[in-house]
Amino acid sequence: MEKFTVLLIGSGGREHALAWKIKQSKRLEKLFIAPGNAGTAECGENSAINTHDFPVVKDFVLANGVNMVVVGPEEPLVRGISDFFREDELLKNIAVIGPSKEGANLEGSKKFAKEFMVKYGIPTASYKSFTMDNIEDGFRFLETLTPPYVLKADGLAAGKGVVIHDHMEHAKRELQEIVLGNKFGDAGKKVVIEQFLRGIELSVFVVTDGRSFRTLPSAKDYKRVGENDTGPNTGGMGAISPVPFADAEFMHRVENEIIRPTIKGIILEGFHYCGFIFFGLINVDGSPYVIEYNCRMGDPEAEVVIPRIKNDILDIFEALARQDLQGLRLETDTRAAATVMAVSKGYPGSYEKGKVISGIENVNGSIVFHAGTKQENGSVVTAGGRVLAVTSLAENIKDALADSYENLSRINFDGIYYRRDIGFDVMKYLQPAAI
Ligand code: AMP
Ligand code: GLY
Repeated sequence: MEKFTVLLIGSGGREHALAWKIKQSKRLEKLFIAPGNAGTAECGENSAINTHDFPVVKDFVLANGVNMVVVGPEEPLVRGISDFFREDELLKNIAVIGPSKEGANLEGSKKFAKEFMVKYGIPTASYKSFTMDNIEDGFRFLETLTPPYVLKADGLAAGKGVVIHDHMEHAKRELQEIVLGNKFGDAGKKVVIEQFLRGIELSVFVVTDGRSFRTLPSAKDYKRVGENDTGPNTGGMGAISPVPFADAEFMHRVENEIIRPTIKGIILEGFHYCGFIFFGLINVDGSPYVIEYNCRMGDPEAEVVIPRIKNDILDIFEALARQDLQGLRLETDTRAAATVMAVSKGYPGSYEKGKVISGIENVNGSIVFHAGTKQENGSVVTAGGRVLAVTSLAENIKDALADSYENLSRINFDGIYYRRDIGFDVMKYLQPAAI
């Protein structure tokens, strides 16, 4: 049985969840995380190398006998880390879990993703794209739509590139600011304007070796900072899995109308794709539509999806790398999972770092995944807006949430804030016994 020395790239809650799972693998020789956080340091060895500098990653991989690289965030993928490995004589046999640059472009360019969806008949909001050369057409297109107006910067914009306006004049000004005013830098040189879809969102994930796929448990994240889904968007304030309204019939439609045509498109386009596909979906009166593709796991969705996977995760990654997913049986925990994110005061606006975190050792029956933390002078301190995610597994979502909240009350740092209503909108879908 081949053993793996793994380099995991990233530093958030998603990467701690991946590191926690990789650490449990019978196939693991040694785990490095770059750069990691105070939580991943408990699962392996953190290394502060600059992961944007691929030659530096190469030196590290060769010096440490790494034979598998798992890429957590989108940026290295969109910048072509997987291609860099495949094209290098010394690296080409090292497994990289994450798609090629072309595959990652499904996340890296909204226009590219929309063209792909239209070409392969995948349901999504109707759209048009504009640049500074035809911005007047953009203004005219807005006039043909009914509010609200959805504008999306084409490129990666750290999750902030989508703006929704109720008034046409605001939407027009926004278009001008993104395209001409450089509001999102290069990411906004192209803008996609699309039809607003009304419904309830959810996230569906698959792993694919570029031929076949396995569907992972569904999840729903809570993006707004305030209770009742109010206030600005964040990276995610909590998540639940499974999604109660994503029943067998709905998931069957997702598989047939969205997942299969996407995999078919990847094959026909000849994209090298070995890794996760994250489908950001919206359920519009029972019909699934794609809001966006991501080329990685979600965060905080990973903190509820990964703990529900029963397989040894390195068996899954090996099957991906060998293009042998066909033979893999995915086993999932039937229990529900919930995670609640504790964030710094002021997030997603400006916030202070370096606050000492206390009470993690008192947590009982939940898993604490670190997001923005680091070790400093023997203490764990805050090092980001999203600080930690408390995940629990239980017979139903309500009990899992109760465990997470109970354990969160034992954790403290100056300015700690978390939403107390994660899961509020799905309670009506649960069986009476679970309420
Ligand atoms: P994204 O960055 O693509 O995930 O978009 C951020 C958020 O904007 C999504 O989670 C949705 O809530 C919202 N959104 C994006 N596109 C649409 C759309 N066509 N209709 C309604 N809401 C949308
Ligand atoms: N939770 C949404 C994302 O990871 O993009």
